Amino acid sequence: MRVPLIAGNWKMHMTRPEARELVRGIKSRLMGKEIRAQVGLAPPFTALETVANEIADTNWILVGQNAFWEEKGAFTGEISFGMLAEVGCKMVILGHSERRHIFGESDQWVGKKVQACLQWGLVPIVCVGETLDERESGLTLKVVERQLEGALGGLEENAAGEFVIAYEPVWAIGTGRTATPEQAQEVQAMVRDWLRRRFSPMRASRTRILYGGSVKPENIRELMECPDIDGALVGGASLDALGFAKIVEEGDRAAREGGK
Ligand code: PGA
Repeated sequence: MRVPLIAGNWKMHMTRPEARELVRGIKSRLMGKEIRAQVGLAPPFTALETVANEIADTNWILVGQNAFWEEKGAFTGEISFGMLAEVGCKMVILGHSERRHIFGESDQWVGKKVQACLQWGLVPIVCVGETLDERESGLTLKVVERQLEGALGGLEENAAGEFVIAYEPVWAIGTGRTATPEQAQEVQAMVRDWLRRRFSPMRASRTRILYGGSVKPENIRELMECPDIDGALVGGASLDALGFAKIVEEGDRAAREGGK
């Protein structure tokens, strides 16, 4: 049984007062409702403590958006996994396509970050996904497999803690253009098969594979109905309290009705 995970990636949005208002808005819509899905919030670094305080009376999870693998030192502008753990993070998004494409993170870098993240006892949310060019050239599965190998290939099955994978086609991020459930399911199933081959059937059946890319209240249901979609990484739509709460509710309902 995989507990669905719906995480909001706020990216470079929200000052502390805005963050407080957003969390309170989401809470007022979800508190008291029976939700089995895990809810994660990934605010910018400056708002982590504010959000940690606001969600202290919930079972929601504080998520970091990125971190560097070194523990401390002369790395101007970077944040360590230890710092994220100390402020209350339980999970960290790694290898997001914006990190890869805007900040030049390589597969190898993502792999080093994943190792450090697991050593700190934090759960990495490893993002993979192809560009439009790669999709149109028929390279989707090859690219995703290369990214998986780079991020997770160095881990030993027995030594590795829990990790989450998010399939986020680059052409669907922030564009309003969602992958169809069929397109998403094809890649999600391939990711699960890779986990089975590379790790074990047990790992494959336990690991949550999220979908990300223009998830909104209107499409969460059909996505969650796919057998290999275990939740969502939500960008733009997570900045609106009502919309994000709806995504959580709808996603959770679809998962329950689908026997997930
Ligand atoms: P989006 O972003 O929902 O705005 O497309 C998703 C993501 O980048 O995680």
